[in-house]
Amino acid sequence: MAGGIVIAASGNKGYPGKLTGKVFITCIVAAMGGLIFGYDIGISGGVTSMPQFLKKFFPDVYRKEELNIGGTNQYCKFNSQTLTMFTSSLYLAALVASCFASIVTRTCGRKISMVLGGSLFLVGAIVNGLATNRLMLYIGRAFLGCGVGFANQSVPVYLSEMAPYKYRGALNMFFQMSITIGILAANLINYFTSKMKNGNGWRYSLGLAAVPAIIFIIGSLCLPDTPNSLIERGKQEEAKERLRKIRGVENVDEEFEDLVNASIESKKIKHPWAKLLSRKYRPQLIFVTFIPFFQQLTGMNVFMFYAPVLFKTIGFGNKASLMSSLITGIVNCASTLVSIFTVDRFGRRVLFLEGGVQMFICQVIITICIGLKFGINGNPGVLENWYALVVVIAICVYVAGFAWSWGPLGWLVPSEILPLEVRSAGQSVNVSVNMIFTFFIAEVYLEMMCVFKFGLFIFFSVFVFGMTIFIYKLLPETKGIPIEEMAEIWKAHPCWRRYVVDRNEKPPNVMSYEMTEEVKIETKEV
Ligand code: BGC
Repeated sequence: MAGGIVIAASGNKGYPGKLTGKVFITCIVAAMGGLIFGYDIGISGGVTSMPQFLKKFFPDVYRKEELNIGGTNQYCKFNSQTLTMFTSSLYLAALVASCFASIVTRTCGRKISMVLGGSLFLVGAIVNGLATNRLMLYIGRAFLGCGVGFANQSVPVYLSEMAPYKYRGALNMFFQMSITIGILAANLINYFTSKMKNGNGWRYSLGLAAVPAIIFIIGSLCLPDTPNSLIERGKQEEAKERLRKIRGVENVDEEFEDLVNASIESKKIKHPWAKLLSRKYRPQLIFVTFIPFFQQLTGMNVFMFYAPVLFKTIGFGNKASLMSSLITGIVNCASTLVSIFTVDRFGRRVLFLEGGVQMFICQVIITICIGLKFGINGNPGVLENWYALVVVIAICVYVAGFAWSWGPLGWLVPSEILPLEVRSAGQSVNVSVNMIFTFFIAEVYLEMMCVFKFGLFIFFSVFVFGMTIFIYKLLPETKGIPIEEMAEIWKAHPCWRRYVVDRNEKPPNVMSYEMTEEVKIETKEV
């Protein structure tokens, strides 16, 4: 199987320790960081389709929509640079903030980064909720973005370090779960605030972002820092005690020793950013760059940001549009559960590959539907019910595919493959690339819709095809391998081996990690 090699970690390590209630609760609390990111993703689309909001801040777009300027061409109806800048500016701020967050996360710990993330987001929510002009909107967005940058930089790393290796996939995916809960909550809030008669609905939508921020701040203040981070900052005794508590066993010597060794290696490195560029870290660098790039090029955020606008574009009325985006929000959230229950059993590759195929098929169906109905000139005539139903079902199946593959895995895999010495820097690359392309999609989507017309979805499907091949060929399975043992997986992979192995070193055993554990048990029984 190309790239599907699973390997025996050196020394066949299987640290003792169980999934304790403490770790479980800790991970749920930390994952709340996803709420702020999700809330923002879900809120902007609805707010930018509210007439009162447009009238106040973007009167040009409002006039164009109300007076139906642009004729019957639906593809170009909502195209406005200033409006897209409102959505996308946040991601630029997040991109810059994640680089600073890397330094804070490494030197002051994961917890501080998380508290900072929540606090910056809170300031942004307040400024936006009180906004009286465009400038206040943009300043608010900048604070929100910094909050997201700090949270997304630290939370996935925190979760991967806290979790016992056998449950790392599921626990890390709580982050994606709370992103989707945030999106859904925002969709619901928009649904109700858009009906408010006083014209201030948008203010509530934007201001209520303070709620997930406060939840996240309080949660983070109560959390302990990870043993890895404590060791990294020289607090050895405290780290060992913490490890005992979170693993629920007395003997944590082997894991502790590995963490200390990783930290010694890490201390030798003065410039983690430069180090990440060295040959030895080529596989990690490739994955922390391409996974977020591809995650955004699935086109998922077209639906998340612009679902109401998109549904309006393809001919749904105002109410039906908000309702349809609510439905996709529910599907997104529910489908993430599938990945939580399967990722540590079937592995990352199976989910990546299945999700890719599913998204590809749906994109082809959506393209055909929109193409047949709207053609090149974007004038659909009368829209029948069957058409609306097929499009909504295809979009839901597509969203489900993303929600159990590229969505959660886009955050899990980069956070688990990075060795300690380059973990914070690598995670920043992951967040930055994610934000650049989230920005890109938010910025150019309406323009692309206008230019590519129904071919827009062909554009994304080509990427989905490419990314599925990329995973099939290059990503080794990371399921069930302790995070500090991860270096071994590259040594056994035909494409990566030459980058990470000294010429004289023998390749590690090419066999399943679980298999080696079974073998150990059998040997004991004999
Ligand atoms: C992605 C977001 C996306 C969300 C949808 C996340 O993993 O990073 O860009 O909007 O999933 O659920």
